[in-house]
Amino acid sequence: MDLQSIKNRFGIIGNSPELNYALQVAAQVSNTDLTVLIIGDSGVGKEAFSSIIHSLSSRKHNPFIAVNCGAIPEGTIDSELFGHEKGSFTGAVDARKGYFETVNGGTIFLDEIGEMPLGTQARLLRVLEAGEYIRVGSSKVQKTDVRVIAATNKDLLQLVQQNKFREDLYYRLSTVPIRVPSLTHRKEDIVLLFRKFAADFADKYKTQSVQLMMRQKTYCLPTPGRVTCVN
Ligand SMILES: Nc1ncnc2c1ncn2[C@@H]1O[C@H](COP(=O)(O)OP(=O)(O)O)[C@@H](O)[C@H]1O
Ligand SMILES: [Mg+2]
Repeated sequence: MDLQSIKNRFGIIGNSPELNYALQVAAQVSNTDLTVLIIGDSGVGKEAFSSIIHSLSSRKHNPFIAVNCGAIPEGTIDSELFGHEKGSFTGAVDARKGYFETVNGGTIFLDEIGEMPLGTQARLLRVLEAGEYIRVGSSKVQKTDVRVIAATNKDLLQLVQQNKFREDLYYRLSTVPIRVPSLTHRKEDIVLLFRKFAADFADKYKTQSVQLMMRQKTYCLPTPGRVTCVN
């Protein structure tokens, strides 16, 4: 599938070389089981990229789940991801399957991976290395076939230096790094995004589309040290 078709299908706006490169890498690795690490600021489309990779893969008919590692309390994240046995901790009145069990055959998107507690990182490393995990409170090793896509807006290497992130996990995760550029690095995409959002807004509220100020029949956007004009 060519880049333009991917953009059309997934509603991705932008045509900067950096964005195109990131999309191209995503498309290339989609049909493998390689672990992907998506790096970029908040809102640049990391989650959108993860769903593109899953949708273009042979796992597309199997489940996809997005888990925000920063939003799950440290005490429950192991159980959410790997499941637990009945009575394994206070409140564990029943056994519970984790996502690595329920999403078997599919893809898990681990957002904000930098927030993952160290104990959970060790469990994840075992999944990535051996496809194995153990439910909390169990001793039975289980197998899983889940493709992992992780994302971060943090500098993971810095977290490694601060002993907050396992170095071995960092290297496992970054087999295929995809850097999604923010608009600061692709100013030419701002006009395209502006037009899209203005049109969407007008469509939703049945009003006229807001226009960018016209100057000599061109759109002008001031950028530090220069003015970018687009016909
Ligand atoms: N290039 C883009 N074109 C169109 N919409 C985008 C683009 N990048 C991000 N978005 C939209 O912005 C919102 C935030 O994207 P998301 O994937 O959640 O970002 P992140 O996970 O990096 O915080 C979503 O609604 C997404 O569809
Ligand atoms: Mg996000």
